[in-house]
Amino acid sequence: MPTQQIQYDSIKPIIWKDDNLDLLDQRILPAEHTYITLTDVESVALAITDMVVRGAPAIGITAAYGIVIAARKRFADNPQSWKEDIEADLDCLAQSRPTAVNLFWAIDMMREVIKGLNVADPIATLLSIAKQVHEDDIAANVKIGALGAELINDKCAVLTHCNAGALATGGYGTALGVIRSAFSKDKISMVYADETRPWLQGARLTAWEMVQDDIPVSLLVEGAAAHMIKISQKTDNPIKWIIVGSDRIASNGDVANKIGTYALAVLARYHGIKFMVAAPTTTIDMNIPDGDAIPIEERAASEVLNFAQNKVAATGAQARNPAFDVTPAALVDAIVTEKGVVLQPNADKIKALMIN
Ligand code: MRU
Repeated sequence: MPTQQIQYDSIKPIIWKDDNLDLLDQRILPAEHTYITLTDVESVALAITDMVVRGAPAIGITAAYGIVIAARKRFADNPQSWKEDIEADLDCLAQSRPTAVNLFWAIDMMREVIKGLNVADPIATLLSIAKQVHEDDIAANVKIGALGAELINDKCAVLTHCNAGALATGGYGTALGVIRSAFSKDKISMVYADETRPWLQGARLTAWEMVQDDIPVSLLVEGAAAHMIKISQKTDNPIKWIIVGSDRIASNGDVANKIGTYALAVLARYHGIKFMVAAPTTTIDMNIPDGDAIPIEERAASEVLNFAQNKVAATGAQARNPAFDVTPAALVDAIVTEKGVVLQPNADKIKALMIN
């Protein structure tokens, strides 16, 4: 079996173990490989806010398990009123991060299940559903990987941003799932990974995943992307695709993803290369008309003013720290989901995909 089919399986950001939730602490990867055990819903919400777990699908899966933990306590405390009492916990989870719609998808789905539950052991039912959400996400990613790889015709270099890998999902990854699948078919010569300031998901997480799978990876500071795309066109290793994940896709195909993604889409169009978004349908928000309605998380200025906890900015300087941006659908060549590929996305094509 090729190495890459073994390694991604060993990267497990979320594990349900001994009736509790273990999260791989992504803030300290790759230096340390440490799991944090969470036993109450407030800690689960905080782990999402604080980036112990991150990446839209991984956040949704974590929330589903967090709701199991919350339900266990509420049911034990008061079996008569637990269905009402748990609303406070669902709200607590909903406050953890605003942009990734997978979080709200998981909360809404579990809320509906809870409403209809009428069994002796509701916790066992909720746990089996959370596990199913987790397994379904991995299966979706494998499908997305295969479909996305089919779009890459000639062997080329690709560029990715942030981390949309096994760590950001139930496993395997969305954008990195496409890259894994394409690499196994000998379609990828090099993966350029933006380092992704300020959390360095590219440098710490994407590079780590690629190295473990023996996929050649070169890190770039974000500002190098335009230059590398341009000069690579004249070499044997041209960057032909930018491949990213998404935190929320509006019903017209506008795509929210890690800050810096929009700039890459503009670059892709200018240089005549392709821009692919790989995401499960749980990332598509049919309730909003376009990207203007996507709430963009703005994180603490200290994340920009400091580097690895060391102050680097001039005293007195302020900072803005939007964590995501929105790429207009018109700049997207393909949205690849487990239900199929949407080329040149628009509202009609997304609707057709979702009712399919
Ligand atoms: O702030 P993060 O690390 O949660 O941002 C993650 C991203 O932007 C990913 O690209 C996105 O969630 C897709 S993950 C499959």
